[in-house]
Amino acid sequence: MQYEQRNPVPLPATGSYESVKATLETVFDWQYELRRQNLLSLYEKGKTLAWNANDLDWSTDVNIERMLRDRVANGLGPMMNAMLNPPQTLDDKRVMEFQLNMNAFMLSQFLHGEQGALVATAKIVQGVPWTEAKFYAANQVADEARHVEVYHRYLTEKLGLSYEISPSLNRLLDDIIEDPRWDVTFLGMQIMVEGLALAAFGVVRMQMADEPLIQDLITRVMGDESRHVAFGVLSLADLYRTEMTSTELREREDFVIEATHMLRDRLVPSPVFERLGWDVDVWTEWSNNTPFMRGFRQMMFTKIVPNLKRLGLLTPRVRAAYEKLDLLQFEHHKDSVEEPEAPPPQELVQILELFLKGTGSNGAAANGA
Ligand SMILES: [Fe+2]
Ligand SMILES: [Fe+2]
Repeated sequence: MQYEQRNPVPLPATGSYESVKATLETVFDWQYELRRQNLLSLYEKGKTLAWNANDLDWSTDVNIERMLRDRVANGLGPMMNAMLNPPQTLDDKRVMEFQLNMNAFMLSQFLHGEQGALVATAKIVQGVPWTEAKFYAANQVADEARHVEVYHRYLTEKLGLSYEISPSLNRLLDDIIEDPRWDVTFLGMQIMVEGLALAAFGVVRMQMADEPLIQDLITRVMGDESRHVAFGVLSLADLYRTEMTSTELREREDFVIEATHMLRDRLVPSPVFERLGWDVDVWTEWSNNTPFMRGFRQMMFTKIVPNLKRLGLLTPRVRAAYEKLDLLQFEHHKDSVEEPEAPPPQELVQILELFLKGTGSNGAAANGA
């Protein structure tokens, strides 16, 4: 596989390579019992539904600037100013640069999250005790390599604009990799990071409705991710409901609460403001508090909350933390076993449609996070 890399992905402060000490017990399963049918059928699905990065039509002409210019010509600017109430009015030039960079920022964090998933899932292959789960995780490792490949190709060959990993996502990935408990790797990666990714992918796909390559790319990746999240839910459900001591459960609650804060911070686009030379404090404060952006961030948790509930982790302590973040509104949404796909929540679809009304962009929307 060869493609033109128009831009190198910027490096974080830690440099080109970052080493984290991962300690875990590697478990052999000498029984090979293969009795967890739900995991085995997920494994069969994973093998059958695998695709190749070359299946995408990479000859597609991707011109986000032209797409945005059309939207701006159709009144995107006034719409954004009215809905987002920014600290200073966004003229057309600023609307363009904000949108272009937000799109690159979101897609770049997807790329970095995918690398995290690749590494974390490899760790799961070693640490999870059951053969069925090792099989499935091995299959997922191949999926994640492909996801890294397609996002990287899209960002460098097609967009020509990208961002380094956000510090909060970096911290969370480090925590997940460093943790010696295999179930915490699952919890962090399959339930939290991938749960959020499923919701975020859906939103970006909707925003970029008039760009066929990213549509195809995200649809394929989401198909895989919905299996990955289901893998996490199926693997952990019995464990948390029956086999944990209260101290162990408390540690998992702490992890969930901390991971939630880091994931929420990962959605704050301070690096975009910094690169654009906008006042980072003022714009970050705005992003933290403006109702549209807050609502957008909350909706990224639509899959995580019901999945935690299914795992028995929506305990009084987690509930109290989620209450403060206004996330309990999603507890009655369908979890990943009931509904593996993650359609963007109806409230968000409505907001985005309203946002785009009059911009002529056919269901696609402005970026916000
Ligand atoms: Fe992935
Ligand atoms: Fe995944």
